[in-house]
Amino acid sequence: MDKNKLVFSGVQPTGNLHLGNYLGALKNFVTLQKQTKCIYCVVDLHAITVFQDPNELKNNILETTAGFLATGLDSKKSIIFNQSSVSGHAELAWIFNCIARVGWLNRMTQFKDKAGKDKEKASVGLYIYPNLMAADILLYKATHVPVGADQKQHLELCRDIAQKFNTDFKKNIFPIPEPLIQKNISRVMSLRDGTKKMSKSDESGYSRIDLKDSADDIIKKIKKAKSDSSFIPDNLKDLEKKPEALNLISIYSDLLEISLEQVINEVKGKDYSYLKNKLSEVLIEIICPIGKEIKNLLEDKNYLEKVLKEGTEKARILAVDNLKEVRNVVGFI
Ligand code: AMP
Ligand code: TRP
Repeated sequence: MDKNKLVFSGVQPTGNLHLGNYLGALKNFVTLQKQTKCIYCVVDLHAITVFQDPNELKNNILETTAGFLATGLDSKKSIIFNQSSVSGHAELAWIFNCIARVGWLNRMTQFKDKAGKDKEKASVGLYIYPNLMAADILLYKATHVPVGADQKQHLELCRDIAQKFNTDFKKNIFPIPEPLIQKNISRVMSLRDGTKKMSKSDESGYSRIDLKDSADDIIKKIKKAKSDSSFIPDNLKDLEKKPEALNLISIYSDLLEISLEQVINEVKGKDYSYLKNKLSEVLIEIICPIGKEIKNLLEDKNYLEKVLKEGTEKARILAVDNLKEVRNVVGFI
């Protein structure tokens, strides 16, 4: 256990967790839990940057918590809580709103994607969302942040904020956190369009594998997944020209924890239905037990609320201490 390393990450409670969340983030959360102290947060303040139905939000907070536990996070080892229950996140985010520069936020590609054509109608919260994400991490002085590749730019902004704060106040208060991004499959793509990431917000359920999908759902979705009419190439270079096929092979390799080259060796020259059958089998073996456990856990909402409450108490202790130091450095009485 590395005493100097503190891991923090967050997941938005905005709908069903999917295979992208699992391979890009959750699986790594579980590995890190075995090595060091970790804090995993259900980021409900981030969720409301886009309107959420209050009842659905409540359910989604519990469902994301169930997803954390079902993939193997242990609330005795890691701190598991929801963001809005520790007020320090919002308080530090305000201070960071005064540290980050407008020009920095204007470069954020996720805002441009999410706000779409009519930026004037996006919430101000959506625009300053990366400052809140920096506050989440730095409120605990976390040193390492496991995320999917889509969060890399936000992490860079967090590093800039930490650096500017330390420089402005001439004190080494914040560590400069390191992103931990999976090498093999940092971005799981949509099953319908290999150039778009798999996402909770995609209208088509066929674009993603949800962790709660049944074996039948998985078989149907993988069968329908876009691939290619010719045979599977025998080298990575040719495969890279077919993003949907590369995505299926990358998912298969990551689930089995074997290299892309090994998978290509196994499936080269075969047609895609062979790969799809194999992939469905592995997905059913790994994802279905997680889905079942999520459903089991959701039967006992009191238990899930208790997990969050206990996590909140632990998080609050760390947050209060660090925030006291920050407030003093900024000059508040
Ligand atoms: P979100 O659901 O957007 O809060 O994402 C939670 C975590 O899952 C973040 O670390 C994301 O980077 C990661 N993630 C979400 N979608 C994908 C994807 N399609 N591929 C890889 N990682 C993802
Ligand atoms: N922005 C992240 C996402 O959309 C979620 C998030 C919020 C997060 N705060 C964080 C991730 C802090 C890592 C660390 O996926």
